[in-house]
This record gives sequence, structure tokens and C-alpha cells, in this order.
Amino acid sequence: MTRYAHITGWGAAVPEKILTNDDLAQIVETSDEWIRSRTGIRERRIAAPEESTATLASEAALKALEVASISPSQVDLIIVASSSPEYLFPATACLVQDHIGADKAGAFDLSAACTGFIYALNMAASQIRTGAIDTAVVIGAETLSRLVNWEDRNTCILFGDGAGAFVLQACEEPGGVMSAVMRSDGSGAKLLMLPAGGSRYPATTETVRKGMHYIQMSGREVFRFATRVMAQATREVVEKAGLTLEDVNLIVPHQANQRIIDAAARGLKLPADRFMVNLERYGNTSTASIPIAAVEAVEKGRLRPGDHVVFVGFGGGLTWGALLAQWSGPLAERPARRVPEIPRLHRARGLMRRARRFVEGLIWGRYPDEK
Ligand code: ACO
Repeated sequence: MTRYAHITGWGAAVPEKILTNDDLAQIVETSDEWIRSRTGIRERRIAAPEESTATLASEAALKALEVASISPSQVDLIIVASSSPEYLFPATACLVQDHIGADKAGAFDLSAACTGFIYALNMAASQIRTGAIDTAVVIGAETLSRLVNWEDRNTCILFGDGAGAFVLQACEEPGGVMSAVMRSDGSGAKLLMLPAGGSRYPATTETVRKGMHYIQMSGREVFRFATRVMAQATREVVEKAGLTLEDVNLIVPHQANQRIIDAAARGLKLPADRFMVNLERYGNTSTASIPIAAVEAVEKGRLRPGDHVVFVGFGGGLTWGALLAQWSGPLAERPARRVPEIPRLHRARGLMRRARRFVEGLIWGRYPDEK
């Protein structure tokens, strides 16, 4: 039986507090006109003190589980992609596992900067297709407002906080994740980084004095890299799925800069309306930007069951990638197509193990692993 990894639930969570470009102009030397014309961003959300990457991630995950009509106990795996994880360790995914009560799930974080959500979706889909798991929750979550230097106008105008989550489930009906492209170029590591706080530069008064615990970026170089790879990765992933660009109903790009998305549209010779864009209201929410935009696309009726959608992104690392999926709906609406649940397989394997040990006991007079 061929197994497919369908996207069956989705949810987003953003803080209530809005920071407009005019608000920013009170903090650094900038203007609404400059930010809008260079990036397309009008406002972004900023986490309240009691909010964090894990709380936003948990909220998005619970909404996605509700759409999929499944309980947290049915989740086998949680992956959180984040550029602003709660801690170096433990993984933010473990905190989410606890918050949402996913008592049977494994959990880990994935670090691929803004491309992280695409990498994580691909990892979860692979696990589902091999039969290792049945159900995964993949989350992109950020509180980048805690990692930007609010005195650096080159970076603080770009980023925002938020989270988005997808539920992936095994199904024998063709569809779901169809192809993926994951790429990296570590020679560009220094173009976009947060240098201090890891093992290379542990936090000291000196690293804090030098502002090494803030995001540092070579904006122009990242811009040039992004415009090069977005169209290229989209073409590759479409070809890998055996489709053409005409078959793609919607492209949900990483929401970093309107000019980067326009360049990708020109490179692909596609009209602007084939791209989902909502960066004007959220800014660059890194790993969360693609799922937040996808949720809005569903709500606006721009992404419907059966549609072919491409998620494409780039980020620090450098990393870039794309994933093509046929959009699904909640699996609960077609129970006949569900694959047998993993617990039943586990039970069958357990019985086989006990039977083998019983036979070995008859032969050797005791269980081989008994002391
Ligand atoms: N307000 C006013 N002026 C500004 C501001 C600001 N907020 N920021 C920079 N400037 C000035 C610069 O100092 C510069 O002045 P100078 O010429 O006197 O030195 C001038 O504006 C032009 O600066 P550029 O860097 O050339 O501006 P550019 O048009 O490239 O836009 C931007 C800058 C928006 C950062 C752009 O380069 C960009 O979007 N780059 C990609 C960044 C990105 O997407 N990063 C996220 C990657 S995803 C991840 O992994 C987190």
C-alpha cells in the first residue's frame, strides 16, 4: 500500500499588538514611505511579555488540530522550525508537546532559518510516507522582536512575531506532499546570523556590549541571493513533481520583501495574483511566514482542496527550498481512506515478539534475556 502525507489541518497565531511603520519612525530614523517602498511592509505584530515562541506555536498547533479534528494524543511527531527558539535547549517542540498534551509524540526543533518550515514539512512527510509515523504537527514559530536591535534601522523594520502550523496525516489516497527541494550554501553563513550565545561566542559582557546577541544582516547580498533562488527552486520542485507551472494554482512564498516576490514572479513569467502575499500586515515572520500566509489563503478561498500549491523560501544558512503539495482537507471527512493506525501495528508487533520469546523459552527453558 502506498502511503501519502496529506495536509489535513492548519492554524495561525499572531500577537494582538500592532507596530506600524509610523510607530517605528518614532524609534529609529526611518519613514513609512521608505519602509513601504523598499519592502512592502506596513505593520507587524509584536509579542506581549507573557507570549513566547512556544506559546504562539502551541496556539497555532491547537488550531490546526481542531481543523483536522484530531486530538493531541493522536500526534506521533512535533517539529518546530524556528529562528528564535525558546532556548538553545531544550527544544521548543518539547515545550509545545507539553503545552498541548501530545502525550505520545516525539518532538524536536529544526534550524534552517526562514526555510525551516519547508524543511520541516518535508521531514514530516518523509516519516509518514515510510510508515514510521501516521500523524505529525509541523510548526513555524517566532518572536524575532526579542532578537532584533531596536536601534538598527536596517533590520528592526523587517521582522515580526507569529506562528503557523500544519497537521500532516497518512492516507492511501494520492495527494498531499508531492515533491520537495532543499538546498544550502554555508559559505554565505555570515550574511545573516545571530553570532553570540552559542558555543562559538558564549554570552559575555563583551558580546553584549558589541551587540552580538542581535540579528546581523547584509541586506543587499541577501536580497540578491533571494531573487536568484526563489524562481529557480520553484521551477525545480514543479518539474520534480512531474507538473508544469500552469498546473500550479497558488505559490505561497516566504514573506520577506514584496520586491523579492515580484522578482520571482517576473523570473517565472507568472502574474502577481498567482502569489499569496500578506507581508504588508505581518512583516517577515521567518519560519512562520509561509504557514501564516497559507492559512489566510484558505480563509480567503484562494487555496482549496485539490489545488496544487508551492511553498518556496530562503533564509540564513544560507538555505533555500520549495515544496509542492496537493492541498487536502480534514481526513475525518473521508475515514474509509485512512491507513491502519500505528498503535494497532505496534500491538501486532508486540504479540509477535511475545510469541517468539515463548517459543525460545520452550527451547532454552527460559527467556533468553532473563537473568
Ligand atoms: N529607513 C531609512 N533608510 C534606511 C533604512 C530604513 N529603515 N534602512 C536602511 N536605510 C538606508 C541605508 O542606510 C542606505 O543608506 P546609504 O545609501 O546612505 O548607506 C539606504 O537606505 C539604502 O540601503 P540599501 O541596503 O541599499 O536598501 P535596499 O534597497 O537594499 O533595502 C532591505 C534594504 C529592505 C533590507 C533589502 O536589502 C532586503 O530586503 N534585503 C533582504 C533581507 C531579507 O529578506 N532578510 C531576511 C532573510 S530571511 C531570514 O533568514 C531571517
